[in-house]
Amino acid sequence: MHKLNTQSEWIARANEVLPAGGFGNFDPGVIIARGEGAHVWDEDGKEYIDYLIGSGPMLLGHGHPEVIEAVLQQLPNGMTFFANNSKGIELAEAIVAAVPCCEQVRFVASGGEADMYAMRLARAYTGHSKILKFEGGYHGMSAEAQMSLAPSKHVNFPQAIPDSAGIPQSVADQMLIAPFNDLEAVAALLAEHGDVAAIIVEPLQRIIPAEPGYLQGLRNLCDKHHVLLIFDEIVTGFRLAYGGAQERYGVTPDICTLGKIIGGGFPLAALGASAEIMQHFDKDCVGEGKWLMQMGTLSGNPIAATAGLKTMEVLRRDGTYDRLRTIGRHLQKMQSEALSGAGIAHQICGDDALFDIYFTDRPCRDYRTATHDEPQVNTRYNAALRQNGIFKAPGKLYPSLAVTQDDLAWTEDAVNAAVTAISAD
Ligand SMILES: Cc1ncc(COP(=O)(O)O)c(C=O)c1O
Repeated sequence: MHKLNTQSEWIARANEVLPAGGFGNFDPGVIIARGEGAHVWDEDGKEYIDYLIGSGPMLLGHGHPEVIEAVLQQLPNGMTFFANNSKGIELAEAIVAAVPCCEQVRFVASGGEADMYAMRLARAYTGHSKILKFEGGYHGMSAEAQMSLAPSKHVNFPQAIPDSAGIPQSVADQMLIAPFNDLEAVAALLAEHGDVAAIIVEPLQRIIPAEPGYLQGLRNLCDKHHVLLIFDEIVTGFRLAYGGAQERYGVTPDICTLGKIIGGGFPLAALGASAEIMQHFDKDCVGEGKWLMQMGTLSGNPIAATAGLKTMEVLRRDGTYDRLRTIGRHLQKMQSEALSGAGIAHQICGDDALFDIYFTDRPCRDYRTATHDEPQVNTRYNAALRQNGIFKAPGKLYPSLAVTQDDLAWTEDAVNAAVTAISAD
């Protein structure tokens, strides 16, 4: 009889064929065998409550029956065509109906790709070359995005530090790096540099909220200096609200990028803007010199579009976002109470729909201040949660709509055990 592989056997196999033993995304010491609802199981059969949810896409939970049904209906009709197809067109219509800044969208296969094109689009539209990005802001893996994402040393603003080998200095020279939540710094940079095409920002930077008036302040500065405002809504789109962070915070960017949820767990992302800006994807409208060449094998593929459309249909139902926020608040409260009860300095940072803990009393408002007093406390807390069946990234907790009351009770037990573990250290 065929013997099933254990997790340690899979890890050994991964170490042979994958650099650093993994896909580059997540702790390669766990191999996920399957997911259902708010739960995942590893290859040894250990069950976890999943607060990673594929790094965001699985907002409805794993294997939502209506999404599966829709995808199963589409599968025999074709998986990808490269050509226009009705599912992709319907998805574009649904995004345009939902997201304030989008009159038109262009599909790509990943969020990082969407961000790369958003920056290029801003350059084509304005004729300017520089991009202002915030230290610690995550926008995928393009050369521009890999500037001052996670710098290990602090340099003077606006100097850009590449996070990756293999990026030419010429890219760094086109980037201006600013601290998040500091409007004066942005105002000074825009006053000094006349050749800025865009500001790219995560409206919720990782889990750091924009302070009141900050996003509107960026909007005003962009208008004043004729710079485009790009909201990276890969994470926040259809999560903070159906219309994303721009709906929730009431600030409309010029361009936004979307991913994760709109592909329902399949490879699909998009960028969107007004028809006037998006016409740079149409050579007949803008002429060769101002045109963005853009194509991709899987762009608008009907399986991802079908999964995304069904996911969005479920999200539109009454009370969905209230329920997500209630689950998020419950998860925050149980952790805050347990940590406060044990006298452990901490703060919950983020939005009800996406957050995590910083183990410090200090205000966390940008990359340099959003840190733990003792990083090992966070590492140990997350390790203890994992041991007790909670699956999450060490810097983010994604609630999903599949989380039940039983799951919350399980999570609370795990939180209490993890707090006891770090208190005992
Ligand atoms: C804010 C943000 N932008 C862009 C990306 C990149 O998306 P992808 O991993 O689909 O390339 C991510 C991924 O987590 C993200 O969180």
